[in-house]
Amino acid sequence: MRRRSLWRLVKLVAAALALVLSAHILLSGLTYGKHPPKPSLLPAEEYRLISPETYEYVLKRPAACADRTGPPFLVLMVPVAPAEAAAREAVRKTWGAPSEDTLTLFFVGLPEGGRGSRVQALLEEESSARADIIQMNFQDSYQNLTVKTMMMMSWLATHCPNASYAMKVDTDVFVNVFYLLRRLRGSPGRDFITGSVISDGRPRRSRDSKWHLSEEVYPEDSFPPYVSGAGYVFSADLAPRISWASRFVRPIPLEDVYVGLCLRVLAVRPVYSLGLPTFRSLFEVRRLQYDRCAFARLVLANGFKPSQLLHMWRDFTRDPSGC
Ligand SMILES: *[C@@H]1O[C@H](CO)[C@@H](O)[C@H](O)[C@H]1NC(C)=O
Ligand SMILES: *[C@@H]1O[C@H](CO)[C@@H](O)[C@H](O)[C@H]1NC(C)=O
Repeated sequence: MRRRSLWRLVKLVAAALALVLSAHILLSGLTYGKHPPKPSLLPAEEYRLISPETYEYVLKRPAACADRTGPPFLVLMVPVAPAEAAAREAVRKTWGAPSEDTLTLFFVGLPEGGRGSRVQALLEEESSARADIIQMNFQDSYQNLTVKTMMMMSWLATHCPNASYAMKVDTDVFVNVFYLLRRLRGSPGRDFITGSVISDGRPRRSRDSKWHLSEEVYPEDSFPPYVSGAGYVFSADLAPRISWASRFVRPIPLEDVYVGLCLRVLAVRPVYSLGLPTFRSLFEVRRLQYDRCAFARLVLANGFKPSQLLHMWRDFTRDPSGC
C-alpha cells in the first residue's frame, strides 16, 4: 500500500516536471527577448562584405542537384579548408557517402597563395575526380566563415530549390545519418531549424578570446537563440530566406550567431531535438567516448579526427540495430 502511494507520488512529480518543461519550451518560443532592435537595411558597403554577389565561383557545380534521379531529401553542406583533403575523404567514406536520400557537398574559399598555389592545383584535381567541391574566390579563413555560410545558403537556394532539408556540418563531426533521416521524415517542412540550441549566449568582450566581439561591431549584450555551428539541420525553404535576412544583419565573424540573428529577423526560432525517454539533446556538440549503442540514439557528436571517424564508422555500420 505504502509502496503504491510512493509510486503515485513519483508519477505525479514526473508529470508536473514534464508540464513545467513543456510550458517553458512553449513560452520561450513565443517571445524573442525584451527589445530586439528593429531591423533596418545595411549600408551597401557592409552588405557587400558578406553578399555572395561580391564574389565569384571558381568551382560551381550548378548541376549537382539535378544530376540524379530526384531532388535530394537532405543536402549535407560541409565547410572545409582547401588543404583538408583527408577530412573530405573521411566524410565521403562515412556519413557523407552518396545515397538515394542525401547529397554531400564541400564548400571552400581560396587557399593561401590563391589560384596559382599548389593547394589549389590539388583541389582542382580532387574536384574533377569527385565532383562535390564548390569554391568561391574569397580568402578561406576562420574570420570569413560567415561569408562561407552565406555562400552555402545562396548556392542551395539557387541550385537545389527542390531539396527538403539541409544540414550545415563540420568535418570533425560524427553524424548518425540513419537516425537523422528517420527523425526528419516527421519534422515540419517549413520554418524549421534544429540543432544544439544556445539560448543564453553573450558576446565575449575580452580581447584575448577567440570569439571576441567589440561593442562597436555588436552592441547588444546578448545573442538571440542560435544553433551551434558544428552541425545544424533546417528545412530548405529557409536558405533563400536567411540569404534575404542577411541584408538586415551586420556581419560578425561568428557564423552560427550570425544565422541566429538572421532567424530573428525572420521570427523563426530554433527548436531543440530531444531524445525519448531521456530528454537529452540529440545534438551533442562535444567530444563523447564512442559507444555504438549510445551513438545509435543521437544525431551528432563532434571533435573527431578523420582516422577516428573512419574507425568508428566501420564499427557503427556493422550492426547499428544490435543494441
Ligand atoms: C575575407 O575574404 C576577403 C576576400 O577575399 C579578404 O579580402 C579578407 O581579407 C578575408 N578576411 C579574413 C579575415 O581573412
Ligand atoms: C524543381 O521542381 C520544379 C517543379 O517540379 C521543376 O520544374 C524544376 O526543374 C526542379 N528544379 C531542379 C533544379 O531540380
